[in-house]
Amino acid sequence: MKEFIQFEPSMIAADWARMGEEAKSCFEAGAEILHLDVMDGLFVPNLTMGPALVKAIRKAVPKAILDVHLMIYNPDDYVEKFIEAGADEITFHLEATEEVEHVLNFIRVCGKKSGLAIRPETTETLLLKYLDIADKLLIMTVEPGFGGQAFMPEMLDKVKFLRDSATKLGIEIDIQVDGGIDYETGRLSIEAGANRLVTGTHFFKQKDRKEAVCKYNELRKLKK
Ligand code: DX5
Ligand code: ZN
Repeated sequence: MKEFIQFEPSMIAADWARMGEEAKSCFEAGAEILHLDVMDGLFVPNLTMGPALVKAIRKAVPKAILDVHLMIYNPDDYVEKFIEAGADEITFHLEATEEVEHVLNFIRVCGKKSGLAIRPETTETLLLKYLDIADKLLIMTVEPGFGGQAFMPEMLDKVKFLRDSATKLGIEIDIQVDGGIDYETGRLSIEAGANRLVTGTHFFKQKDRKEAVCKYNELRKLKK
């Protein structure tokens, strides 16, 4: 596996009244990537941030990589707005649009990293045809919509299948897991072939964020 292992705090679990300071605190603790969950109340039963908050976070941490996870229908209507707001990576759901290929291409044409996500009930084989046109695949390890849920271990088979398929085809691609990640489920995910870990509740529960970043970075030693 050649892909670099990286983890990213999910700002959904931060103190939203102090979002700018929270973003800075994560970045200064060593988290170079921040995960921003966008929900529309339709694709998932929850509402979160829009481009205005992404823009404010961009201002607070100009050097961080902002990984925007769109849990919204018709992502094509919003990709440009999130890029203008400062997104570096945009991931949207396979289940949310009929224009998957078009949206992936558009994100790339804009010079940003493109990601394609699936909910737990979606079959991973549907992602195979996008292996060579996406920069990242996101396997949800909880039902999208809320932080603080339990990791679904049965999702690890999907990660393994997709990593094996990519390796057989000689394709280097990021495989990300999101939901219920802690040091242990992070380790299991890396062993299955994931190289990008999103961590919300567990990360923000830690008193010492620098130490938490170091502990997550130690998982890099698992890389074969
Ligand atoms: C769920 C979100 C995740 C999640 C992460 O819809 O995409 O980013 O909230 O939070 P934890 O780590 O608490 O599951
Ligand atoms: Zn997310």
